[in-house]
Formats: sequence, structure tokens, C-alpha cells
Amino acid sequence: RVRIFSGVKPTGHLTLGNYLGAVRRWVVADQHRADALFCVVDLHALTVEHDPARVRRLSRQAATLLLAAGLDPDQCTVFVQSHVDEHARLSYLMECLASDGEMRRMIQYKEKVVRETARGGSVRLSLLTYPALMAADILAYGTDEVPVGDDQAQHVELARDLARRFNQRYGAVFTVPRAVHPAVAARVMDLQDPTAKMGKSHAETSGIVYLLDEPDVVRKKVMRAVTDSGSEVRYDREGQPGVANLLDVLAACTGGRPAELAEGYASYGALKRDVAEAVVETLRPVRERHARLCAEPGRVDAVLRAGAERARAMARPRVDAAYAAVGLLPPA
Ligand code: TYM
Repeated sequence: RVRIFSGVKPTGHLTLGNYLGAVRRWVVADQHRADALFCVVDLHALTVEHDPARVRRLSRQAATLLLAAGLDPDQCTVFVQSHVDEHARLSYLMECLASDGEMRRMIQYKEKVVRETARGGSVRLSLLTYPALMAADILAYGTDEVPVGDDQAQHVELARDLARRFNQRYGAVFTVPRAVHPAVAARVMDLQDPTAKMGKSHAETSGIVYLLDEPDVVRKKVMRAVTDSGSEVRYDREGQPGVANLLDVLAACTGGRPAELAEGYASYGALKRDVAEAVVETLRPVRERHARLCAEPGRVDAVLRAGAERARAMARPRVDAAYAAVGLLPPA
């Protein structure tokens, strides 16, 4: 069977971008057709300034939301990264395999350095080595496919390079993974700034739809979305990024193709109203199930405990093999 791994980072409340770009596909397709693992990657949340209590709360919330979105623990493995030591163990080998230069070339690293510096903070070393840990997440499980939004393509590409390099130097231990992206909404843009990705850790939140936003909040955010000058509804990502983003979201929520959907609208107002309702209806069941799961926290804990145990058993032999392959003396 195909092996699938993907993850979300608990650095903020999950957004519509996370859902349409990644989580929904895990739910509707991936968990049924493969051995799939979905991980709340909490170690990654420590790469930028963080509040311990908030990370703890967001990790639990992310896990709860993955189940609320429809991941079924009988079909797939849901767990928290820090519960499985193999991620950190393998990350070190990846750091010994990757070069400083290839880490510094990562777009997200460069962007985040700018952001952290502007905040007056220092840049954590782990921000630079982030892709090594991410490669470890993926490679530890012999992953074939990594379903992610567009923004993770470069990181997955690096994981591929590292897998090949390791196998060439030390023997065939790892499967070479590949990224898979959704056909629409692989990059949902911020409603207030359609040239920027809708990102859960952005400080300005009026252009971000969160999975747990109340319907009226969703409507307000969508109705206030920045559109473009002009009034014609066309699907033109370059010329009309705001409208194109709304059409992408509508297509992702209701089916259909963005360019064809555009033909049905004579005004931005009508388009926004339909987008707002489509998003509200898409998120409704997730919010409702989330509320029910919050009433039984023991259930989420039990899922995470069993998930970590399963994940550990899957990762351990491969990580042990990698340790032995690079020349570390196996414990007697
Ligand atoms: P994260 O937590 O930023 O995002 C989780 C998933 O959501 C996708 N995504 C989006 N898709 C479309 N439009 C958007 N605006 C948008 N924002 C986020 C992301 O592409 C991702 O699929 N580095 C990863 C977490 C990670 C990981 C891994 C993923 C760590 N290890 C191993 C896969 C495999 C991240 O920060 O995702």
C-alpha cells in the first residue's frame, strides 16, 4: 500500500487555507486509499518565538480539529510529533547530510528571517534547520506521497534530495517521497492582501478565515475581501488576484472550475455572497464536530496515545537502520 505522511504546525488556529490546501484531501481521499499518518508537528512550532501554554493549547486544538474534519483513527494514524522520538533522532542525521547552503536557500527561511528580524527578535538556529526535521518527519515512515499546499513544495523537494543522497552514500534505507497538491486552492490567499498566502501565524487577522470562526464572522470577512478595480468577474490570477482567490475558494467548496464559475457572476457582490455561504456550509460540520469532541477530551487523548504508539513502531526500524548505516555503533 501507498504510504502517506503530512502535518500541521500548531503556531496558530487552523485556517481555511490549511483545510482546502491539505486537510480536506487527507479526509476525503488519502486516509482511505493508503497507510496514512497525520501529525501535529509541535517541534516545528518552537522555531519561532513561542508561548509554551499557547503551543500546548494549539496542539490539542489542532488534533481535535483533524478529527473534527473527519480523519478516522480506525483508518489512519493521528499523532503528535514530540510523542515519537524518532523524528528528532532522524533530524540529526538529516542535519549531517544537508549543507548549510541548501538550508539558507529555502524561501520560507528567508521570509521568516525578515519577519523575525522586523519584530526585533533573534533568529533561532532551529528555523534554519527546520527542513531537516521536516525531511525526517517524512522519511522516517518510508513515505511515498506528501499531500501539502504549494508553499511546502520546496521543503518536500529537499526531502527528496536528502533521501537520494542518503541512499547513494550509505545504502538504500529511504523511500524517495513526492509532494502532491490539490487541483484548486493549493494556495489560498489572504482576503485583505491577495498577493500573500493566508497564513495562520500572521498578526493581521481580518483577511484570514479560521476553521472555528462563527458563520457571521466568516460572512463579514468574505464580504470585506479586497477585490480589484474594475467590476467584471473574470478568472485572472495575475490581473485580478482578489477575485481569482474568491473563485478558487468557491470552486474548492462547491466543485466546478474557477474560470467557468466566473461566467455566472455579473458583480463582485453576488460572488462574495455565494463564497461566504459556501465557506460557512463547508466549515459547519467541522465546527459542530469540534464542539462535540471538546466535550470529551479523553477521546482525543486516547487517539493521540494510540497514534503515537503506532507511529513509533512504524518509524523505529527505519531510523535504527539509518543510524547503523551511517556508522553509529548499534547498542548491544
Ligand atoms: P502548515 O502548518 O503551515 O500548513 C499545513 C498545511 O496547510 C497547507 N497550507 C495551505 N494550503 C493552501 N493555502 C494556504 N494559504 C495554506 N496555508 C497552509 C500547507 O501547505 C500544509 O500542507 N512545514 C509544514 C508542516 C510540516 C509537514 C511535515 C508537512 C512539518 N513536517 C512533513 C508535510 C510533511 C507547515 O508549516 O505546514
